[in-house]
Amino acid sequence: MSAAGSSDVSARGPIGVVGAGWVGLVTAACFAELGHDVRAMDVDEAKVATLDDGELPFHEPGLPELVERNRERLRFTTSMEDVLEVARLLFVCVDTPPTYSGDADLSRVRAVIGNLPPEGEFAIVMKSTVPAGTGASIKRDVPGLAYVSCPEFLKEGSAVEDFMHPDRVVIGADSGDEWAADEVAAAYEPLDGELVRTDVASAEMIKLASNAFLATKISFINEIANVSELVGADVTEVARGMGLDERIGPSFLRAGIGYGGSCFPKDTQALKQLAGNTGYHFQLLNAVIEVNELQKRRVIGKLEKHLGSLVGKEIALLGLAFKPDTDDMREASSLVLAARLQGEGAQVRAYDPVAEGAAQELLPAVDLAESAEQALDGADAAVLVTEWPEFAELDWGGLRERMSNPLIVDGRNFLDAAALREAGFTYEGIGRPNGGAGGG
Ligand code: UGA
Repeated sequence: MSAAGSSDVSARGPIGVVGAGWVGLVTAACFAELGHDVRAMDVDEAKVATLDDGELPFHEPGLPELVERNRERLRFTTSMEDVLEVARLLFVCVDTPPTYSGDADLSRVRAVIGNLPPEGEFAIVMKSTVPAGTGASIKRDVPGLAYVSCPEFLKEGSAVEDFMHPDRVVIGADSGDEWAADEVAAAYEPLDGELVRTDVASAEMIKLASNAFLATKISFINEIANVSELVGADVTEVARGMGLDERIGPSFLRAGIGYGGSCFPKDTQALKQLAGNTGYHFQLLNAVIEVNELQKRRVIGKLEKHLGSLVGKEIALLGLAFKPDTDDMREASSLVLAARLQGEGAQVRAYDPVAEGAAQELLPAVDLAESAEQALDGADAAVLVTEWPEFAELDWGGLRERMSNPLIVDGRNFLDAAALREAGFTYEGIGRPNGGAGGG
């Protein structure tokens, strides 16, 4: 693929997007930016009205500007006919949340397919994360539909950048649907990044395996952190030394209080179930999931080490979103942590720069502060949960006086341990003995 923006814009055909959630909107706005007319459909009338008013239902850096800049080329609708009227490629971006059994819930995907004519001059391009085998099953049910698997690898918080500069674009199609795969490849042609053309089942598996591997890296480094604490090593140093081996690589080796979000927890569970359903016990993935669950709770032990019983203690959580630059709190470590702290009898207050709206609903018993300073006022301990850059900029020297007890548990190894200890804090990181490197 060539550099972004180098192709002839007039050659780009209209694109349909079904599901105007986070993946769908990013996909729609980015294809509009590349010069396509895009019709994005969602069954939620209120959401379509909001989008028509030029507002976005969630926080994603760069996306509002992109939507605004491409308003002429972006149309939102609740009608599938509107989309099919013009689009040959139908990017399906509906969500596939976990069911009670841990399998992915495909009801929204099935509803989309059920609403389509059984054949026509269009192709389904599946972006929703689905179990391997879903494409084959849809083709069995509706053999006249052209079907392409094109999983998305966007990260929340940098989704626009990731779309425009992908590491790779995976396009899976089976025999008979190559024409559709060619058209999808043409749509991505202006972008840099490797193109992986393969069959549908392999494309589906690439997505699940990629997320499972990244989750494995995180659980692995978290276990190394836990062992490091016992043997007097510093996991940030260990990760630095490991990451320089190009077979290992430096990314996703940040130890902390576990991964969250709408993808890793759901997709690891779904792959585990998918394996189980086909008679395979995926041992490694089971361990990855269990390590992540336990990791979220380790903060409690660290607090108790310094405070004893947590009954009546006031604990301030800094950050609630599952990671910075998003207001998404799905499967956030903060949810488990807040519930565990309350279970131990602590009073929990919290501050997050953007996730307040989501937090009000999900954490009704947590006191939400309007600033980090307010959250820390009179607190017996602070726990850094999400590494928002503004937390590194706080006047920690001044804040020490405002807290009842100057204890910081840095759940992301994000703050300057040495400076905090200098300022009189007791600092506990994750996998960093004696309060963190340089902390003495
Ligand atoms: C993840 C993948 O990175 C994307 O490639 C994929 O497209 C997406 O899921 C998806 O399936 O839709 P995302 O959930 O936005 O993207 O978040 P990540 O940046 O991957 O972070 C996930 C979690 O891992 C966060 O809670 C983060 O704090 C944690 N993490 C990440 C660590 O604890 N340590 C690390 O070294 C890296």
